[in-house]
Amino acid sequence: MQDTRRRILASLAEGPVAGPAMADDLGISRTAVWKHVEALREAGFEIESRNEGYLLVGVPAFGGAAVEYGLDAPFEVEYHDSIGSTNDRGRELATAGETDVAVLADEQTGSRGRLDRDWRSPSGGIWLSLVCRPDIPPAHAPIYTLAAAVAATDALATVGVDAGIKWPNDVLVDGQKLVGILTEMEGEADRVSWIVVGIGINANVDGEEVPETATAIREQVGDVDRAALTRELLERFDELRTDPESVLPAWRAASVTLDRRVRVETPGGEVLGRAVDVEFPGTLVVETEAGKRRVSAGDCE
Ligand code: BTN
Repeated sequence: MQDTRRRILASLAEGPVAGPAMADDLGISRTAVWKHVEALREAGFEIESRNEGYLLVGVPAFGGAAVEYGLDAPFEVEYHDSIGSTNDRGRELATAGETDVAVLADEQTGSRGRLDRDWRSPSGGIWLSLVCRPDIPPAHAPIYTLAAAVAATDALATVGVDAGIKWPNDVLVDGQKLVGILTEMEGEADRVSWIVVGIGINANVDGEEVPETATAIREQVGDVDRAALTRELLERFDELRTDPESVLPAWRAASVTLDRRVRVETPGGEVLGRAVDVEFPGTLVVETEAGKRRVSAGDCE
């Protein structure tokens, strides 16, 4: 959201403000104020014109402006009512050189899961892809996926959903999947060009609209304010990416994999044992009969 519009909203939220006073305050013309107010109305903000001036009486329920309103993280939100896949759009933006864009959709018609699995994205969910250009080597990229899982889990806690993370990045409630994460990237040998972190949250959707092994926020605690939840997620993700050292402790605290017996299907075969730790950038340490094994990719049961 443009800075001027952010400032207009902030002053309107305080009480009625006369157009001329706002124009003086912002150092712009009255016509410019009026144009900004009209643009904000178009974006779903309810702004009444009273004798005393403009007053903000309602904010949009969901969408780009709804999420950006009050957002304390440097993401621009690109919203779509319906899109094929937010990750595909994120890749397009990344390839065009964009960064810190959150592509958000109410519904996806061609969403993708990990390992080419299907992912259902009915209307009412939070389907989000974060475009980032971190200055890191490709081998460190998994920490972004872990950060996304922690951010989602922490954001869910703010709406009363007690979720845990199954390695590497499924967010579960009572063993049922609530959030899936698909990270894609492009880079050279020593440096990432871009990372797109795709996060799918089964939010205000019916249980029948998601697979049997999955659940939705609606089933757990009822419908939530998706804009506020998305804001929490973006802010927490931003905190974690700027302080990568904090990711692993937070991941360990939210893990439902550690201290459990696991069977991990890896590209190199099955690893059986007890999950004892996760190491940077996201390697699972499994205590097997033959000693410790470190697993960097796979499916964990
Ligand atoms: C998985 O668990 O298999 C990962 C699912 C990832 C789904 C999200 S929804 C937003 C983004 N867009 C996609 O097409 N996929 C990811």
